[in-house]
Amino acid sequence: MTIEGYTKDEFGTKLGKILSTSRPIQSIEHLKGRSKELDTIEKSLYAPGRHVFIYGDRGVGKSSLAATAAYQYQSAEREPVFVSGSVDDTFQTVIVNIANQALRRPRTEAIRTNTTMSLEWRGIKWSDGIERSNLDISSQIRTVGDAVELLKQIAEAHSEKPIVVLDEFDTIVDVNERNKFASLLKQLGDQSVKLKFIFTGVGHSLDELLGAHQSAYRQLETVELPRLGWEARREIVLEASDAFNLSLDNNVNWRIAMVSDGYPYYIHSITEKILWEAFSSAQEVNEIGWDLFFQGLQDAILSINAELKKPYGQAVLNRSSEFEEIVWSTADHDDLSRVLSDMYQSYTKIVAKRGQNSILLDQSRYGAQLRKLKEENYGAILQQELGRPGWYGYREKMLRGYVRMQAEANGIQLTGERPAPKQKMYVGNARNGYRGPDTPKGVREHQRISDWEETTSNLPDPD
Ligand SMILES: Nc1ncnc2c1ncn2[C@@H]1O[C@H](COP(=O)(O)OP(=O)(O)OP(=O)(O)O)[C@@H](O)[C@H]1O
Ligand SMILES: [Mg+2]
Repeated sequence: MTIEGYTKDEFGTKLGKILSTSRPIQSIEHLKGRSKELDTIEKSLYAPGRHVFIYGDRGVGKSSLAATAAYQYQSAEREPVFVSGSVDDTFQTVIVNIANQALRRPRTEAIRTNTTMSLEWRGIKWSDGIERSNLDISSQIRTVGDAVELLKQIAEAHSEKPIVVLDEFDTIVDVNERNKFASLLKQLGDQSVKLKFIFTGVGHSLDELLGAHQSAYRQLETVELPRLGWEARREIVLEASDAFNLSLDNNVNWRIAMVSDGYPYYIHSITEKILWEAFSSAQEVNEIGWDLFFQGLQDAILSINAELKKPYGQAVLNRSSEFEEIVWSTADHDDLSRVLSDMYQSYTKIVAKRGQNSILLDQSRYGAQLRKLKEENYGAILQQELGRPGWYGYREKMLRGYVRMQAEANGIQLTGERPAPKQKMYVGNARNGYRGPDTPKGVREHQRISDWEETTSNLPDPD
């Protein structure tokens, strides 16, 4: 069926199934580029007493990986238990939350069982996830040992292979409260409780999340989640266009991949808007080309979450126009950390492209302005990289993708490449091989954050 054949309702419904701009993914068919991580998680969950911790930058896809892995693990008679940390949570409140979620009536008919979920523990009665006895549960969960005892019963009542996703663990503010989970894991293992945990958190290491010298390391498989790789970025768009029988200009597909900076939210958002533009177009549409791309990009920029946009606004709005170009220059290339001289190179290219209305600042003036981007009233978008004098990175890495979208919408194509002399060519391996030419020059296959350091040839800025 061509896109013209759909009613708005049919189109929107189908689109909502294919793209997931506002919700984590839960199924393996839509989770792109994470087969290695899924495999690691799957294998480690076989080990008795071992749990999983997924960490990485905001927006890289932690919740999606956790949910998908949990659905894979959880035995079919029930759904996995999902709870999320928040600023006012304590160990106690999280455990109570887990109990209530686990004992809730299954949501879908398909997994309804004839066992009613009810439990009685220390005089507290639950049925269908509601605590019926009006006792103060928290008062019964004074120690980690109490929690273990409760979770043991819950695990048995719940299912054959129960799993809990504790999302956004990092938002639990109190480090002492977070640390209790480390001893919880240890005790769950010691007492052979079959309940598994997948934690997610924004951060760069487990130390950051659990505190150093934790004994929980043996109980935890840690999965550091990098940005989405090139193929995965491209596949999201390709599948969506395939689903509506639209062909996809291969260069547009690469642009979306580059503009997104590897953050799947942007890819979903841009693709969703492109497809709506295609649907609403007065002309017959058979292909996603540049016009649709630019329309979709504009729409996506408008609808990006306000919190994300705010620092960008602070950095460029009501400022002299040079700040737009300076900010864009910071988001060029694939590297998340860059030195000033490198960014200045990007900047000179951007100014040249913008033409006569732009004035080129010299490097020292550029540097002075750039440093302002570390200040709160400029959105604090940049930060000096810890332990690497002269290197700058984004405070919130995901913002880089938004900056790239802004630049693109203004006719400035930032690249996913870097100016290093030795560049490899990669041969494209789009599905079935027929889709497209090779990877554009300079696009690097995905690397882990820790690998980037070694491959940079530039000298640091003596700042
Ligand atoms: N591997 C993937 N393939 C396709 N889409 C993905 C993938 N991972 C995540 N997404 C999509 O990207 C968006 C962000 O993903 P998710 O919410 O899982 O990220 P997160 O790291 O948990 O973010 P946050 O730090 O804000 O909690 C979601 O809309 C999700 O549908
Ligand atoms: Mg999340």
